[in-house]
Amino acid sequence: MPLIAPSLLSANFLNLQSDCAMLNESDADWYHLDVMDGRFVPNISFGSMIVEYFRKATSKVCDVHLMIEEPEKYAEQFKNAGADHLSVHIEACRHLHRNIQQIKSLGMKAGVAINPHTPVSELSDVLGDIDLVCMMSVNPGFGGQKFIEHTLTKIKQLRTLINERNLNVFIEIDGGVTLENASSIVAAGADVLVAGNTVFKSANPKDTISKLKNI
Ligand code: DX5
Ligand code: ZN
Repeated sequence: MPLIAPSLLSANFLNLQSDCAMLNESDADWYHLDVMDGRFVPNISFGSMIVEYFRKATSKVCDVHLMIEEPEKYAEQFKNAGADHLSVHIEACRHLHRNIQQIKSLGMKAGVAINPHTPVSELSDVLGDIDLVCMMSVNPGFGGQKFIEHTLTKIKQLRTLINERNLNVFIEIDGGVTLENASSIVAAGADVLVAGNTVFKSANPKDTISKLKNI
């Protein structure tokens, strides 16, 4: 059974309280919080102040996905805001090992996010140091995009790498997850499904979360 991490990017920002209440009562495991800086990705979303509000609204895991340049400048801010997981992009980190150590020393679980063009093999030398790989199945920046099918091959490759070394690293799939493709994503080896539009644009979000969970 996969863990479900609804992406709040697709929530109703004029009524977050009701969306949070819905999530808290639902089968959702994590809150997936997408931070965008308009530099690493061509969009701006929200920062640590909003993460702090989500932290107050839930006791579920706050899984923060940083799509920003120079994440080392902000890691402590997100810790103080209440992030449980902090993921940084491999493509944004010149000294990735240092970024991972910083996140762990602040007491958060460390995640590395990879874009669709980045081979899984680039994770090889940090896989033993991290808790989570956030594998992008769309180009980051926007919700509601179409799942890139090649991701299924990458999930299998990463699952093999993790199992061969007996590691405990979550594979989280982010972007374009639907009720139709979720079972093939889980069958390929994913542990966590992020879902934005599929959850929040559905007629019954709570029910959709249960369906994803029991896929
Ligand atoms: C994209 C974000 C995703 C996004 C997912 O840059 O990282 O988390 O919100 O949204 P959907 O599920 O609609 O593709
Ligand atoms: Zn994300």
